[in-house]
Amino acid sequence: MSILGKTAIITGGGMGLGKAFAKRLAADGANIVIADLRNAEASAAEIDAQGKRAIGVTTDICSEDDVARLAETAIRVFGRIDILVNNAAYFARTKEGGFEDIGVDEWHRMLNVNIIGTYLCCRAAVPHMKRQGSGRIVIVSSGTAIKGAAGHVHYATSKAGLIGMTRSLARELGKDGITVNAVAPGLTLSDGVIARGVTTPGQMDSQRKSRAIPRDEQPEDLVGAVSFLASADSAFMTGQTMVVDGGSVMV
Ligand SMILES: NC(=O)c1ccc[n+]([C@@H]2O[C@H](COP(=O)([O-])OP(=O)(O)OC[C@H]3O[C@@H](n4cnc5c(N)ncnc54)[C@H](O)[C@@H]3O)[C@@H](O)[C@H]2O)c1
Repeated sequence: MSILGKTAIITGGGMGLGKAFAKRLAADGANIVIADLRNAEASAAEIDAQGKRAIGVTTDICSEDDVARLAETAIRVFGRIDILVNNAAYFARTKEGGFEDIGVDEWHRMLNVNIIGTYLCCRAAVPHMKRQGSGRIVIVSSGTAIKGAAGHVHYATSKAGLIGMTRSLARELGKDGITVNAVAPGLTLSDGVIARGVTTPGQMDSQRKSRAIPRDEQPEDLVGAVSFLASADSAFMTGQTMVVDGGSVMV
């Protein structure tokens, strides 16, 4: 399975890391389907303008109807679904707070988007991958799943849950030629992180000091890992979590 001519769905590809993943997979030769609550069409148009094939589908990954329409559109336009990058998350817009103050509504929202939304996207793509006898699922977790994150207990919990989902789905789907792996980024200067203003000099300095490679992490630092996990080169690797954070977490 080479990426050339394959079809990749990237959730949350309207901005930030998802947009960087979409651009890299397009450069690798894949047809791109961007699914996002906002900016899906605009992001696809940017890729299309570079001579690659991309469409945007406005999608709420928590909506079963939206996700079914997303898969139907990918099949109608490109005829196949080979790669699913589950990147969309309730992340940059979350509220920080001590765990007693997070509140049940915020917990439900977090788990609904990050866990159930990811499940729905996998459920919609897998039948097509099974029919084709091959597929690549990449789930974007987070270093916080391994290190923990004070002030973001619900977020870190959701990202740890995705590692369990990765391993369990890998075990269910390996016999069908489908691999399922996770990528765990460190704090990365995505559009959302910059806009949210968490990147105070003190916070960025402490991130840099925690790393073996003591510099800021950029979206481009992550695209090679996603490209590899989406390609034929990772055919015998499944259920794994690749930490890409300059050597802050070492597993
Ligand atoms: N940037 C970081 O520091 C960092 C670190 C570790 C992990 N991650 C993970 O990487 C991924 C991308 O990070 P980012 O910084 O680009 O995040 P971001 O919050 O800036 O962007 C997330 C994207 O997902 C979309 N989205 C949110 N809810 C959605 C829904 N219900 N349906 C469809 N789309 C939805 C948003 O519109 C947005 O385009 C996320 O999974 C995040 O948890 C990011």
